[in-house]
Parts: sequence; C-alpha cells; structure tokens
Amino acid sequence: MTRPTPVTTRALAEMKARREPIVMVTAYDYPSARIADAAGVDIVLVGDSGAQVVLGHASTVEVTTDEMLVLAAAVRRGVRRAFVVCDVPFGSTEISDEQAVATAVRFVKEAGADAIKIEGGGPARLSRIRAIGAAGIPVVGHVGLTPQTAIALGGLRAQGRDADSAAQLVREALAVQDAGAFALVIEAVPADVVEVVLPALHIPVIGIGAGRADGQVLVLHDLLGVTEGQPAKFVKQYAALGEAMTEGVGAYAADVRAGSFPAPEHGYTAVPDAVAAARAELSRLTD
Ligand code: KIV
Repeated sequence: MTRPTPVTTRALAEMKARREPIVMVTAYDYPSARIADAAGVDIVLVGDSGAQVVLGHASTVEVTTDEMLVLAAAVRRGVRRAFVVCDVPFGSTEISDEQAVATAVRFVKEAGADAIKIEGGGPARLSRIRAIGAAGIPVVGHVGLTPQTAIALGGLRAQGRDADSAAQLVREALAVQDAGAFALVIEAVPADVVEVVLPALHIPVIGIGAGRADGQVLVLHDLLGVTEGQPAKFVKQYAALGEAMTEGVGAYAADVRAGSFPAPEHGYTAVPDAVAAARAELSRLTD
C-alpha cells in the first residue's frame, strides 16, 4: 500500500490560505490513532486530556512526561498521514527554557512527534515557545481556557467573557504568534471575541468552544460518547460508543454465564492421534 502524503506545517498553512477547514482530534493509543487517521483528520493531538479520559485522573495536571511519551509513541505507530502534535504536560516545561527544550526533544526523539503543544501566553510561556522553536521543533500555542493552570483561572471556565479577559486573550494570541508558534488552539472563548483577533493571526487557529476558526478540535472520547459524566458545553457527541461497548461486554458476560460461549466454531480441531497421545501421556504421568 502506498503511504499517503504526510501533513506538514506548510500544508496546514496552505489549508488556512485556501480557507479549507482543518480537522484535529485527540488520540491516545494505537487503535484510536489508526481510526482517526483512516477517517482523514489532518492533525492528531496526543492531548494531556488523556490524563482524564484514558488514565482516570481528576485533571490533566497529574499526567507525567513518561506516561505521555508511552501514549504518544503508540499514536505515532497508528498514524500514516496526519500531523502528530503532543501536549507537553504540566511540570515538564515550567522550570526553565532548558527544561522545556529537553522535554520537547524527548517527544520528537522517543515518540516521533511532529510538533508539541504548550499552554499559555504569559512571559515565561513565550520564552519557552521561542526556545523550543529555536531548537527546530514546531510549536502549537494554546490560549483561552488552559486546563493545566485552571486553578489560577478560577476553575475550568470560559475565558474572554469580560473586558479584561477579552483584552488578555487578544494580547496572548498575538504574543504566541510573535513568539514563533506555527498554529494556535483557542479554547472556550466567545466566538465574537475570537473573531476580533482572527484577522490579525496569520497562523492557523484551531478552535474548541471558540466559534468557527480555521479548524476545530475535539477530544475523541467526548465526540464518540465514551467520556464519563456531563460533557463540556462545546462538545457535540457523534456516536454513543460508551453504551455500545457496555452492551457488547455485557452480552459476552451473559454468554459465558449461560454456557453459550465459546461455541464449537470458536475452537481448534486436533487429529485423532493428538487426542490419543494426550491420553497416553496423562496415563503415563498419573498411573
Ligand atoms: O488535551 C487536550 O485534549 C487539549 C484539547 C482540548 C485542545 O488540549
């Protein structure tokens, strides 16, 4: 099978120029990456949302770099065409630019990431974006609601809803672009505030709960209906796989309990000699 042409930073910029919507979705393992890629998405994000949706933590803060690297390497193995972006987790870039570059290098070398995504637009974050970019690693910025620092934002709440917060969103989006990010995620910001800054952003802007930007991203488990509890306001659920999976496992359990699984067609046949040899060996060992 010929390998499809992989998506690049340049291809994403050209999509923006052509006003062709960019489709981004999260994935955290080999099968979900393979499915997302086969569905034709442009960017697969190994999001630190994996801390919650696949590792069962209460927030994204708990996941470690080593855990993210395992998820990212599995995703890389499942993707043939899409551009693979990996979140750098909380704690892996906060100390210094040197720490941030070392973390980003690990994602490229050990997991095969095409780019990393880093949250925030404050001065230290901008310095990290510049340092990682200077190391030759493409960076996706992330402003608006930044879950890694949700405590400082007063919880997982929409940003840009009052005058100060809207002005901050504009400042940070432009600053992240100036620092060298090649794309930007804007999360949970009113569409009319995003629309103000969009014309000043020449890099692709991917929205999540931020109106119609150059592209959209959703968490795979949210859109497939696998996530526990009430999804965020910006989620549209396209399938009910959680229910389908529970039904499937429940039907298997019922079959095992009723003795109707396995049936003869689920087993292997042995030649009569093999059965006779097994009997002879058992007698030799036990008589
Ligand atoms: O971790 C994640 O899934 C994300 C998206 C919500 C953008 O950062």
